[in-house]
Amino acid sequence: MTVESYETYEHDVLVIGAGGAGLRAAIEAQAQGASVGVVCKSLLGKAHTVMAEGGVAAALATTRSEDGWQVHFRDTMRGGKGVNDWRMARIHAQEAPERVIELEAWGALWDRQDDGRISQRPFGGHTYARLAHVGDRTGLEMIRTLQDQAVHDGVTVYMECTVIRLFKDGDRIAGALAYWRQSGRFVLFRAKAVVLATGGGGKAWLITSNSWEYTGDGHALALAAGADLIHMEFVQFHPTGMVWPPSVRGTLVTEGVRGEGGVLLNAKGERFMFRAMPDAFRNEYAADEAEADRWVYGDRKANRRPPELFTRDMVSRAIEVEVAEGRGTGHGGVYLDIASKQSPEHIKKKLPSMYHQFKELAGVDITREPMEVGPTTHYFMGGIKVDPETEESTVPGLFAAGEVAGGLHGANRLGGNSLSDLLVFGQRAGLGAAQYARRLSAPPTVDRSAVEEGMRDALVPFERGEGENPFAIQDELRHLMQEKVGIARTKDGLEAALDRLFKLRERLARCRVTGGREYNPGWNTCLDLESLLTTSEVVARAALERTESRGAHTRDDYPKSDPGLGRQNVVVYMDAGRVATRREPVPEPPPELKRLIEEGVPGA
Ligand code: FUM
Repeated sequence: MTVESYETYEHDVLVIGAGGAGLRAAIEAQAQGASVGVVCKSLLGKAHTVMAEGGVAAALATTRSEDGWQVHFRDTMRGGKGVNDWRMARIHAQEAPERVIELEAWGALWDRQDDGRISQRPFGGHTYARLAHVGDRTGLEMIRTLQDQAVHDGVTVYMECTVIRLFKDGDRIAGALAYWRQSGRFVLFRAKAVVLATGGGGKAWLITSNSWEYTGDGHALALAAGADLIHMEFVQFHPTGMVWPPSVRGTLVTEGVRGEGGVLLNAKGERFMFRAMPDAFRNEYAADEAEADRWVYGDRKANRRPPELFTRDMVSRAIEVEVAEGRGTGHGGVYLDIASKQSPEHIKKKLPSMYHQFKELAGVDITREPMEVGPTTHYFMGGIKVDPETEESTVPGLFAAGEVAGGLHGANRLGGNSLSDLLVFGQRAGLGAAQYARRLSAPPTVDRSAVEEGMRDALVPFERGEGENPFAIQDELRHLMQEKVGIARTKDGLEAALDRLFKLRERLARCRVTGGREYNPGWNTCLDLESLLTTSEVVARAALERTESRGAHTRDDYPKSDPGLGRQNVVVYMDAGRVATRREPVPEPPPELKRLIEEGVPGA
């Protein structure tokens, strides 16, 4: 094959991904004087961050003066079942308020209390109402604000451009190869530092809240470049996705519905979360409907929280049990009812998107009728292992922030912590990358033959006279991950998944596409499948290695948590071209933070 020419751009810092983490990183790197390019697979503004609807978690203490970084830190560590990186959890809790206020200065219009201060709503696992929000469109408002700021600051944006390979110069990162979705032609980005902010890989599952861009690209690129990944076995299944009609199955129903008082009911009309509540938590959650109602309508200081505001791992599992034991709805979900708890005016004001979503997609008026909901693949807690301060990975010059980075959330993420995560660590990654780039005396070199090889490999599917259909492989993958690497896992299931993933990879190597390169969905899918299959294998291998149940990772064959494994992280890395795992100790918090996690904050 003759090798074609390609465009080349050069930046100090290349940010891959234009969701909240990528944009926040770009703004910071540009402010540090770096030349910054942002590459996004989609159009600017169409980021998956908009799917975090209910709010951003930050201890602003507007509803309760007792709230502070210590309580937020403790909630995050307890929610993550102790395997979180405590240094990231502390930085996150300490810096989230400043990052939220900063967005206000850049134009974000948060909902307000009557006294004018930022309004905060309750979410699962947070001791206090802590989520600053804009109705149920918080992520959208954040992206709007960050995008305006980035464009205002002069960041260069490359849209509809998919990165397929990272390059190194020796050990250091040196650039990336991408293709324009519109023309199918290639583009080389040379960069001193690269920030990965590509989000997660939920598109490997059949039922997911994730949008089409979420194919695990950053995880796969980093792994191939030699970076370590951690916590990959922990995939969050959000308890409430739509279950009906089938065309919208998995679409997110924000936790904000439960934060505003919505309750979960099985087909018999039972509020099953009271029953599902583990004994260890009974002193924190309401014992009955009357007590929960007092909390929803009245004095949050006096009462314990409704059980619907448990952490997501527990609520998702409780829903699965109801459905498995025959108490689910006709479409395999449970009911989420806000109509009987709040007025139509309140619902339309605080949950406008949910109102329209159900009205238009399901023909359901949520001010009068319950919604049908069930778990949906939502978020990767796991990701690229980074330095907690700088967000640099184990590869020099390669940084990561947001969902593609691992460590902060441990075994289970609290709702709203994703939005504060991407602000806090996006800013730090942008700073770290700009400082790193400044220290380099000369730009790294990208080997031309490596670029040519990358282009040739990407185009091979066009040359096969006959071969596999990429959509068939994608469809099989999604069924496989849903069935064998879903909420409940077993050794046999995971081994069968790995075996079939291997076969799917063999089929991908025979994949064929037809037509031109311009907006070619078959070709795009072929390239996405590289990342999807790698990420799926990584999740399955890590899940096999963790022989216990913890947070979002449930092993039916090991139903209990193992305190020994609770002190170990599973790290995934490439060894001689194969995905491998090893165990590393979970970093031990200093005694004062250990005490804080175990005993709580006095007076809070
Ligand atoms: O339920 C939600 O609004 C999602 C928020 C999140 O994942 O943080």
